[in-house]
Amino acid sequence: MGAQTWMSRLTAQIQSCRCTAPRQALAQFCRAPVCTFALMVKVECVAELGCRVGESPLWEARTSTLLYVDVLAGTVGRWDPNTKQSETRTFEKTVSCVVPRVAGGYMVACGLKIAAMDWETAPALLTYAEVDNDKPNNRFNDGKADPEGRMLAGTMALELKPAELELGQGSLYSLDVSGTVRRLLSPVDVSNGLGWSLDGRKLYYVDSLKYRVDAFDYDLTTGNIDNRQTVYQCEKEDAIPDGLCMDAGGKIWLACYNGGRVICIDPNSGQRLQVVKLPVDKTTSCCFGGLQLTDLYVTTAHEGLDEAGLLQQPLSGGLFRVTDLGVKGLPSFEFAG
Ligand code: BGC
Ligand code: BGC
Ligand code: CA
Repeated sequence: MGAQTWMSRLTAQIQSCRCTAPRQALAQFCRAPVCTFALMVKVECVAELGCRVGESPLWEARTSTLLYVDVLAGTVGRWDPNTKQSETRTFEKTVSCVVPRVAGGYMVACGLKIAAMDWETAPALLTYAEVDNDKPNNRFNDGKADPEGRMLAGTMALELKPAELELGQGSLYSLDVSGTVRRLLSPVDVSNGLGWSLDGRKLYYVDSLKYRVDAFDYDLTTGNIDNRQTVYQCEKEDAIPDGLCMDAGGKIWLACYNGGRVICIDPNSGQRLQVVKLPVDKTTSCCFGGLQLTDLYVTTAHEGLDEAGLLQQPLSGGLFRVTDLGVKGLPSFEFAG
């Protein structure tokens, strides 16, 4: 290809890209439905973890490890990108999220409890709160610390099969630093992804079987939510919206369960800016990690796949890493209590 052809192709590519991430200045006016730079993105399975339901990826800067859980196996894992090894701790019930504590150690949602754990003394747990006492068929699902150090986590009914469950049984809860838990929202079908706008004044939230991403006004002082609005209505190929994370530009990265992809959404315009496909369908959640927070880690699941499905997508349940996105993440918040 002559230099001129190459240049004009590159120019065309840049001009057709409206993803604000990789080439912000050049791409400002782009109008392509899917970012062509997505073609340059690298996706690899970095650890064949074999998770039934891998979830809650979180980059812990102080240990330079990628935390995650396997909800149904009841494990919390720490994967080290240097050694490529994972260390796990196993609990008696489901563990649906893990959040580092300012004081050291972690908070986990285990069954219907939110509790503190230490890596050294696990599976010992110190219970902070127990919810949904009238619903023994419920369990916690996704959870995260807010910018003020509260911990938010939501519940759902137990599933007969993935995404098949009694609807409207769940709630979203907030645990404050003093250990008081309160219900922020109910009813919820499958409480899932959580994230905050850069100024902390919007909470982005996924109730999976509503097939959308919503925003609430978030009062950082009180932790109250208000004024629910739809930010993004999922497309058919997005399948079921699951976990999400924010990038340093305030965009949402949403893992699409059964969709085999992570998509980037501009919460202000409601536009889908980018689609990153993965070689497994059950992509559950994502976070930015690595020393510069430039790598997008994606957890996946194999629960619900039959033998043929597993043969087709043998990396289901593995941990994936997307590089060369040209985007940076933000350090994760910690629980202050
Ligand atoms: C839950 C899974 C569920 C999936 C899709 C995940 O957050 O942990 O059990 O199947 O969302 O709704
Ligand atoms: C398809 C999957 C495929 C994946 C990766 C998804 O859109 O549904 O079957 O494995 O893309 O290309
Ligand atoms: Ca989830």
